[in-house]
Amino acid sequence: MYHSKILGLGKYVPENVVTNEDLSKLMTTNDEWIQERTGIKERRHIKKGDGNSTAEMGFKAAKQAIERSEIDKKDIDLIVFATLSPDYYFPGCGVQIQEKLGIDTCPALDVRNQCSGFVYGISVADQFIKTGMYKNVLVIGSENHSGGLDMTDRSRHVSVIFGDGAGAAVLSRSNDDSKILSTHLHSEGKFIDELSLRGPSTEYWVPEIIADNPQEDIPYYPKMNGQLVFKNAIVRFSEVINEGLQHNNLTKEDIDMFIPHQANLRISQYIQQKFQLKDEQVYNNIQKYGNTTAASIPIALTEAWEDGLIQRGDLVVLAAFGSGFTWGSVIIRW
Ligand code: UT7
Repeated sequence: MYHSKILGLGKYVPENVVTNEDLSKLMTTNDEWIQERTGIKERRHIKKGDGNSTAEMGFKAAKQAIERSEIDKKDIDLIVFATLSPDYYFPGCGVQIQEKLGIDTCPALDVRNQCSGFVYGISVADQFIKTGMYKNVLVIGSENHSGGLDMTDRSRHVSVIFGDGAGAAVLSRSNDDSKILSTHLHSEGKFIDELSLRGPSTEYWVPEIIADNPQEDIPYYPKMNGQLVFKNAIVRFSEVINEGLQHNNLTKEDIDMFIPHQANLRISQYIQQKFQLKDEQVYNNIQKYGNTTAASIPIALTEAWEDGLIQRGDLVVLAAFGSGFTWGSVIIRW
């Protein structure tokens, strides 16, 4: 059996910085509440006319990851695109990226697993490489949240959290000790409505939404039961990290770098404490980007790598939890 490794990483965030102070002009909120409950100081939002979209940001991140991996884009065997905010209802962003990269034909698929999307995407790529079917797989996580948030008091607990951005990784067949050791994935559909966006969809086309729904229950804005999500997140994060470690006969003492999905700084800090990790063993950047859903892990991983915080031979742990509920972990020997 073959193994995969991460060969190149890239990221892109829009230039437009939106501070907590900026949001307090749109809804009843304040910097103190947002920082205390989430750790977020600012996030990036696409600005109308700046040319960005989910696929475009994903393309910019992917281009950087491919350049850094030093492979020819023509050698990419598969594109996996994770997002909950695609440019089109259909087709998915995967084929848009293929076109933008100028790759004539190659398989491209979209992953719909929200905050766990990148972890799911890595797992899909890893399986294809392990079987020997593909050698190089491009995995992208990208989100344009800002265009679809309800910037009123009704959704202030949701809208202050999310930001826009993209990250990407090239996974390739490994010829040495550096490899993805395992991926573990889970979902629990009974919580589907606890963090969701119902429409527009085949159940809620736009005219029906307008006809059937009073202003206070608009299903085309994201809804979240924050406290329930929080409680489940800390349990599932811990479980799935332990599952990955145990699978590889490793313990928490073996972790060199933990990169959690950037859901809420309080969640990351809880996990850090539980696993008794030092500050330098956990990478957080939610303070400057907010929660970028499928993009958060690849952006954080890219920055940690750029800052020299991940060295060859390190044990790197990725873990995510989000809407679905879905969750998963990736254990990497760098
Ligand atoms: O990445 C996907 C997974 N998502 C997550 O992991 C998110 C998990 N959940 C959370 O991070 C937290 O639940 C939130 C940060 C979303 C909310 O924090 P919370 O401590 O659970 O607040 P809450 O929703 O229970 O609201 C507490 C109070 C309420 O006021 P009262 O009823 O106590 O008077 C809210 O109305 O805070 C109020 N509130 C706000 N105040 C100022 C809610 N949102 C805001 C706001 N600014 N933006």
